[in-house]
Amino acid sequence: MKNIILCGFMGCGKSTIGKILSNKTKMPFIDMDKYIEKKTGMTVSGIFEKYGEGKFREIESEVCLELSEKSDLIIAAGGGTLTFQKNIDVLKRTGRIVFIDVKYEMLCKRLKHDKKRPLLQVENRNEKIKELLKARTPIYKSAASIYVDGNFSSGYVADIILGILN
Ligand code: S3P
Repeated sequence: MKNIILCGFMGCGKSTIGKILSNKTKMPFIDMDKYIEKKTGMTVSGIFEKYGEGKFREIESEVCLELSEKSDLIIAAGGGTLTFQKNIDVLKRTGRIVFIDVKYEMLCKRLKHDKKRPLLQVENRNEKIKELLKARTPIYKSAASIYVDGNFSSGYVADIILGILN
């Protein structure tokens, strides 16, 4: 089986759902942000702070290439990963992209107390979420070959994904 790549906005549940899918399928799970942190020895916030978002995106694209050499993985992409066409092209070659769609209100609630995501450390967080979500949703939709409504519990969403994949 090829890789399964989970895509969607920050807070849509990619990592939690990815771990559940990994348990159920016995396919290893890779969280791209964690992978980047391990590779660089820095936190995502640290990379943004020290080198800027551009450098983070470069590393992220390198990691897409690295992971595309592997197979049979469940991969949770970062929220921005699949908004770049080169990453979409690379990851699409290696597996199936699943878009987990979660509505704005739910994302705001889940991300309310977040301190780790550099893009959300702004004065008007909900406005930022709205703006990014509007720009990104059509891109996620066109990148993915599988669409799931993510406005349910992670276990339920994982089961829906498995049902579609089987
Ligand atoms: C980002 C999402 C984050 C992380 C970085 C940038 C984005 O990943 O890659 O903070 O651009 O949406 P999660 O979606 O796992 O939070």
